Amino acid sequence: MDQRVCLFTGASSGIGAHTVEFLAAEKGWRRLALVARRKEKLEEVAARCRAAGASDVLVLSLDMMSDDDCVAAVEKTVEHFGSM
Ligand SMILES: NC(=O)c1ccc[n+]([C@@H]2O[C@H](COP(=O)([O-])OP(=O)(O)OC[C@H]3O[C@@H](n4cnc5c(N)ncnc54)[C@H](OP(=O)(O)O)[C@@H]3O)[C@@H](O)[C@H]2O)c1
Repeated sequence: MDQRVCLFTGASSGIGAHTVEFLAAEKGWRRLALVARRKEKLEEVAARCRAAGASDVLVLSLDMMSDDDCVAAVEKTVEHFGSM
């Protein structure tokens, strides 16, 4: 589980934020890519994931209504972690 990478959209609030925090705290996920538009909110969630045990959390402020940003989410995640 430690080597897996979770790319999670809608991670800045609500269900998405709680889910990534749960993955870090309860399921042992250590490498997370968090996607949404609001960077400050994402940074807050990333900090909580790190406090819960995640070792490498990538914050990506992107708009999933944009095809280019959807591609960028995958490309930047692979670039950062080396795989998905
Ligand atoms: N069926 C049910 O029983 C049920 C129950 C609860 C919720 N829901 C649905 O589940 C969804 C999530 O609910 P929630 O309460 O967690 O809502 P929320 O707190 O508003 O979270 C939505 C997430 O999606 C992100 N997002 C929205 N538009 C985006 C875009 N264009 N690009 C990237 N990220 C985007 C938001 O981040 P940014 O604003 O930072 O981009 C936020 O992280 C909603 O559609 C809600 O209607 C369904």
